[in-house]
Amino acid sequence: MLVLGIESSCDETGASIVRDGRYVLSNALASQADLHARYGGVVPEVAARQQLAAIAPALETALQKAGCRWEDIDAVAASYGPGLAGPLLIGLTAAKTIAFASRNPFLGINHLEAHIYANWLLTTPENGQSTNKEDAAPQFPLVCLLVSGAHSELMIVRDHGIYELLGQTRDDAAGEAFDKVARILGLRYPGGPSIQNAAKQANTAVAAKIRIPRAKLRNPYDFSFSGIKSHVNRMAQAAQDEGQVLDTANVAAAFQDSVVDSLVTRTVAAAREFHVSTVLLAGGVAANIALRQKLAAELQKIGATLRFPPVEWCTDNAAMIAGAAYFHLHRGETSPLTLDVAPQLALPLYSPASSAE
Ligand code: KG4
Ligand code: ZN
Repeated sequence: MLVLGIESSCDETGASIVRDGRYVLSNALASQADLHARYGGVVPEVAARQQLAAIAPALETALQKAGCRWEDIDAVAASYGPGLAGPLLIGLTAAKTIAFASRNPFLGINHLEAHIYANWLLTTPENGQSTNKEDAAPQFPLVCLLVSGAHSELMIVRDHGIYELLGQTRDDAAGEAFDKVARILGLRYPGGPSIQNAAKQANTAVAAKIRIPRAKLRNPYDFSFSGIKSHVNRMAQAAQDEGQVLDTANVAAAFQDSVVDSLVTRTVAAAREFHVSTVLLAGGVAANIALRQKLAAELQKIGATLRFPPVEWCTDNAAMIAGAAYFHLHRGETSPLTLDVAPQLALPLYSPASSAE
């Protein structure tokens, strides 16, 4: 089954064709990051206008690269939330229009769930080099750490669509913390890659001496990143007051270590407590090399394995939308053409208590 997926929830316009929820035939992406870098963050109105300009070319590229004709497509999917209302509306309307015109099923996809399904994607041999390391699909139950620009959630995935929340951020999301700290340090938007690059120049011994306080939370699986951000802010302020130049590379490394440590400790504890042997990383922050390496090493110590998508499938893309859609379609689910955007959409979570009922 060939699914055409569309992603437009923020500042990336994506169109992709995926076979059977796993094989990425094409994955077109137009990024507006350079445009928003000028403002230090995404300007919603600008993002919506850009989506409108980029959607038709992205669709054409996706079809062309996949070697497909419109008639070959079996279903059309788009993310309907969470995200920015204006940008979401462009991709969702495009998907509904194509589905209506081609009399194909339409599916609105939860963008957060799609990030998780990026772990199922594979490239076809004729379509490039990057691939999820293992060809076999992830086996349930899984622990999943979903860390993006607006979300940080640790959950158990019991089966397709069955998410049990263990913990989440009490304040900023992990990606949001990277973006805000990059801004404080005068680094370019988006902050994650900028901080990762700056941290590469750090002196490990010096960075390790920078003490960043850790938050203590009642739920051992919850996260908090705003304290780390405020601490970096105070350091930057103090350096400015004293007329000193802030040691950007070492502060970036200390910040990254602190966030990674907080994410890794809780994820490993969850895998151990719930005897889960496979952990999935998902969302834009899953692109972070330090996080991947430390989490993989710590999980190995308890006999668990880490899976993560290649970098281009961690950040927003349409292949993950088409991939997630397949698993819904497989269960006979479709969406009505009246489906509206849902900017505040959350994952459909089961609490362990309710699932036991
Ligand atoms: O999933 P995503 O592309 O968009 C949302 O759904 O939010 O995630 C974007 C977030 C941004 O906050 C960005 O700074 C962060 O992911 N990010 C990273 C890295 N690449 C992107 N954070 C840390 N390290 C990276 N290499
Ligand atoms: Zn995303």
